[in-house]
Amino acid sequence: MAIGKPLYTAAQIQHRVFQLAEQISCDYHGKEIVAIGILKGSFMFFADLVRAIQVPVAVDFLVSSSYVKTTSAAEVKIHSDIRADISGKDVILVDDIIDTGSSLTYLRARLMAMNPASLKICVLLDKKVRRGFEVPVDYLGFEIEDHFVVGYGLDYDNQYRNLPCISIFHEDVENEA
Ligand code: IMP
Ligand code: MG
Repeated sequence: MAIGKPLYTAAQIQHRVFQLAEQISCDYHGKEIVAIGILKGSFMFFADLVRAIQVPVAVDFLVSSSYVKTTSAAEVKIHSDIRADISGKDVILVDDIIDTGSSLTYLRARLMAMNPASLKICVLLDKKVRRGFEVPVDYLGFEIEDHFVVGYGLDYDNQYRNLPCISIFHEDVENEA
């Protein structure tokens, strides 16, 4: 089996996502948020998170890629950009996982150039030991060890995104199969 037992079950994820949404609702009390999801990896987390946020939220997405199978590529590609005008807005950038930090460093700088009133970063998972770029993470679900993980939106070669839990992916096992 390429997929091990869950690192985080669907119930554990939901519990943590609700806590993050509560924190965000509290921090942005009386304000409106523009939440920007980085696709494709954040789609499930993003949907659950915005559903649980209690302040007005406008949503937008950008499609970017940097990973090829299980390797982080140096170059960040933008396949589709946001459409919202974020100047003067309070923005939260939402991603599935931060690894080297290269993608979020690039995307954050790109959005900052659009002059938002504020820009915070929310990620479900953080592989802190792998960080090469300093990125301020304002809202974090779970810090994990250096494993390649799949499920709840995260993929290996565009597979396993639909798993309701998050599991460690063992590439060697898949290659032998
Ligand atoms: P970074 O630019 O190295 O921080 O990589 C971040 C992006 O790589 C994330 O948005 C994910 O799409 C992808 N990624 C990093 N680690 C994993 C993983 O363990 N499983 C699936 N995707 C990952
Ligand atoms: Mg991603």
